[in-house]
Amino acid sequence: MVDIVVLGVFVADVTFRADRMPATGETILGHSFAIGPGGKGSNQAIAAARAGGKGALITRVGRDDFAEMAFKTWANAGVDTRAVTRSDTQTGAAGIMVNAQSGDNAIIITPGAAAEISCADVEAQAPLITNAKVFITQLEQPIAAARRALELARAAGVTTILNPAPAAPLDDDLLALCDIVTPNETEAHALTGVHVHDADSAEKACDVLMQKGVKIPVITMGGQGAYLQGHGMVPAVNAGAVVDTTGAGDAFNAGFAVALARRDELEKAMRFGAAVAGLSVTKQGAASSMPDAGTIAAVMGAN
Ligand code: RIB
Repeated sequence: MVDIVVLGVFVADVTFRADRMPATGETILGHSFAIGPGGKGSNQAIAAARAGGKGALITRVGRDDFAEMAFKTWANAGVDTRAVTRSDTQTGAAGIMVNAQSGDNAIIITPGAAAEISCADVEAQAPLITNAKVFITQLEQPIAAARRALELARAAGVTTILNPAPAAPLDDDLLALCDIVTPNETEAHALTGVHVHDADSAEKACDVLMQKGVKIPVITMGGQGAYLQGHGMVPAVNAGAVVDTTGAGDAFNAGFAVALARRDELEKAMRFGAAVAGLSVTKQGAASSMPDAGTIAAVMGAN
């Protein structure tokens, strides 16, 4: 039985660490380089499975070494891959620069085969989606596919979460299909026009999202925590020194989804998401930094 269904993208993350970000037109020397599993949807499915959820991923990969890395990673994490399809197009990749001093990152992603995910691909997985407790998607695959999946999930009474990353203009009809929308500050600005930097501005952005039809807006705000409409800031969890923030949003969303699937109330579910995110930033990499259930429980007990 699958509780959490994720629609999204797998790509290989090609990550460079340096003491600072290069400026436009500048070449700088870095001090390490790695290729590992990434892509927001895949990261979320992996984080959910490691955190104790029963998660399946709907995606599309190629027939290449990056796809082999994906299947190995999913098998190790316990992600259900029955809804992963393959095509002759290359699996995508993301170029990531990480500032080794702060852990901050900048990313360019090309989704590759996952850019071909279609409404028909989604409809083929209707039984999986409609029998889930929670459905979650992002905006790295075509938005039409996200919309179709949200429609199927909504019609079946499945809790729908949209993590609107990367930022993109969205119409109100799509937002109204979402029980919960989880933008970060940049994405919240793109969706609402409100510059989000503190609790007051977050509440204003939440109001706009609700006027657009979102039931429950949650704005993730990095080290400040995550803002829950009408409630306030749920603080970030400090689980150690910040090494790499890549995938922190995915970790939060996955933990949140796992807790909602077991019917935790909203604030408690956000605290669980914050613990998963707080742990993920203490390790390098995206999917490879996602903590297991025991580690999450230990951090929650200590906070
Ligand atoms: O959210 C982090 C992810 O965004 C990275 O793994 C990268 O692949 C991009 O999709």
